[in-house]
Amino acid sequence: MKIAVFGDIHGNIDALSAAYQEAAGRKVEAMYHLGDLGGYAPFVNEVVEFLAAHGIEGVQGNYDEAVANNREHCGCKYEDPVQAEMSELSFAWTKGHASQHSREFMQGLPPERTFLAEGKRVTLFHAAPHKNNIYWYEDRPEKFFREMAGKADADILVYGHTHKPYKKELGGKTFVNAGSVGKPKDGDSRACLTVLEITPDTVSVDFIRVPYDVEKTAAAIASSGLPPYFAETLRKGM
Ligand SMILES: [Fe+2]
Repeated sequence: MKIAVFGDIHGNIDALSAAYQEAAGRKVEAMYHLGDLGGYAPFVNEVVEFLAAHGIEGVQGNYDEAVANNREHCGCKYEDPVQAEMSELSFAWTKGHASQHSREFMQGLPPERTFLAEGKRVTLFHAAPHKNNIYWYEDRPEKFFREMAGKADADILVYGHTHKPYKKELGGKTFVNAGSVGKPKDGDSRACLTVLEITPDTVSVDFIRVPYDVEKTAAAIASSGLPPYFAETLRKGM
């Protein structure tokens, strides 16, 4: 079974559209998103409408939960004071522009989603089992991977939140961070589309980098009232 996963779209409709076209061309049998539908780029409502129109189900990210509930803080981690200020501006902008329908859509997303594929249990969540804002990078100690596996009743765990893709096999489990469609942070500005191919014996994962018009999205960020900082980070894939 071939499954496409769209991680952290963050208001970037052109990146989502390009990733969707790529997934459709690869004849995947199912598509899912991993939440964080708004923030950093201006097309939060367009992203929600796209997912709704295409029947793409998914899970709730920290950003979705915070926007839907009008929280004070997005639950994101900041590396420095500049990033903290920029992130706060992005969050305030997104709360101010998300439509009622977008909020309801985000509110209705489940924290986790589990299904069977070729006899294997696959579970999707935004960041970690039962927690939507833990940064689960590839260099976490094995102990951490085992702990997380213990909290999820699944063979294949798929998540995002860090915007840096990886696959790891450990203790008979497959761990997949799907990266980010709309705001990659691994130095590659192209959208990251993750495709899992699951057979009864194997799990293969492709991180497909999909080109789209980054400059168009960067220009839209700059003219939206969002900090131009996010146009720059989009260009750099950071
Ligand atoms: Fe995110």
